[in-house]
Amino acid sequence: MKVTVIGLGKIGLPLAINFARNGATVTGLDQQEDVVRQINSGTEPFPGERDLLFRLKECIANSSLIASTNVEECLSSAEVIVICIPLIVDSDGNPNFENIDRLVNEIGKNMSKGALICFETTLPVGTTRSRFTVDLEAASRFKVGKDFFVVFSPERVLTGRVFEDLQKYPKLVGGVTNECTSKGVEFYTKVLTFDIRSDLSRPNGVWAMRNSESAEFAKVAETTYRDVNIGLANEFAVYASSLNIDIMEVIFASNSQPYSHIHRPGISVGGHCIPVYPKFYTWKNSESQIVTAARARNLDMPFRAVKQIKEEFGDLKELKVGVLGITYRAGVKESAFSGALDLLRYLQNEGVQVFGLDPFYNESEILSFGFLGVANLDELDGVIIHTDHPEFKAIDFESFKNLRFIYDGRRSLTELNDSKILKYLTF
Ligand SMILES: NC(=O)c1ccc[n+]([C@@H]2O[C@H](COP(=O)([O-])OP(=O)(O)OC[C@H]3O[C@@H](n4cnc5c(N)ncnc54)[C@H](O)[C@@H]3O)[C@@H](O)[C@H]2O)c1
Repeated sequence: MKVTVIGLGKIGLPLAINFARNGATVTGLDQQEDVVRQINSGTEPFPGERDLLFRLKECIANSSLIASTNVEECLSSAEVIVICIPLIVDSDGNPNFENIDRLVNEIGKNMSKGALICFETTLPVGTTRSRFTVDLEAASRFKVGKDFFVVFSPERVLTGRVFEDLQKYPKLVGGVTNECTSKGVEFYTKVLTFDIRSDLSRPNGVWAMRNSESAEFAKVAETTYRDVNIGLANEFAVYASSLNIDIMEVIFASNSQPYSHIHRPGISVGGHCIPVYPKFYTWKNSESQIVTAARARNLDMPFRAVKQIKEEFGDLKELKVGVLGITYRAGVKESAFSGALDLLRYLQNEGVQVFGLDPFYNESEILSFGFLGVANLDELDGVIIHTDHPEFKAIDFESFKNLRFIYDGRRSLTELNDSKILKYLTF
């Protein structure tokens, strides 16, 4: 079976390799020539994906995978086309369809009769049918469900463990018509394998969904659930802080019975997924109340931290403050929608001299974000822990003579609550 995977990024490349290892002849299409060159020479174009390198080398060696930038060739020869490029969003998280629309138009113009088109890019509900299928029909003059087939099938994996997650979680497939769903299920059943799981309501495998909207919503819903849960935890934490309550003690206690699954509170929710997909849900949705409120709560946390510091110290002008941790979470080099950048902005507005520190970024990268430089703890008046990188745990904050406060945005250094030297603040 000839499969073309479009977008050989952190998700698309392992996916393409997985298909190739399960018997498909895969062409990977990417617009970046250097990415294509690296893949064809058996070099991984990005670090950190477990088992990627040796599996890539194996597929290149036995020619089950080849990468290309040739759009027409990749599209016209494919029986199945899998789209795995990101939907671009603006700084507010609103989608910009320009790039993906252009690609869909190319697919429409070049696909062969009988092709199955699978959208794996996370999308606002309804996009597969109302936008892309309409465009595909217009560009191809084919009829969906008869001349070609369209499904939505979300990526439910985490970077770093894509191969593992592809086996672990059911593959959801929802078509624009019932024929489309059947074609989609048939395809994914051939090219994926699954772990046996006794905890699911159905056997693990490819799960047909009622339609493409249901599959789109399943992905948006699972990410939005996490955002709302974190928003609730943050709200509880804010409430508890005014009442001499240790919020983590309360959360651990609540979570000891099965109906409660309260997340950890935190100063920010960043990355490409959790802060963005709830916006897909609220986009053009006037019924949303809870999701909108949770998003606002999570977005407010960095602002609130600066406000608390101001309440404690008054005028912050000329203070030297270090933001510790710029990545949106520990362990990944990703700054998209990171609250550290909001902290930077809010502190700058108060006239603070802001420095950054992160084990994943060198000095020039830290400067490029807009920080004054790498934080030297000897010279700082205060620090804000934004990311709980394990490296920060090892720092003896009380030994820095000028340091007057620490704002613990992750509640990872709660032992400093009793410090006689530093003012310990948290939400
Ligand atoms: N990264 C994650 O943790 C994650 C998790 C679940 C789902 N997803 C979803 O998977 C999708 C892909 O994300 P990713 O992290 O792999 O992105 P990525 O940025 O790592 O890779 C995207 C690739 O697509 C290529 N590309 C972009 N436009 C193209 C075009 N028009 N034609 C050809 N190639 C093009 C880029 O050159 C790049 O190599 C997104 O929709 C994302 O929502 C990502």
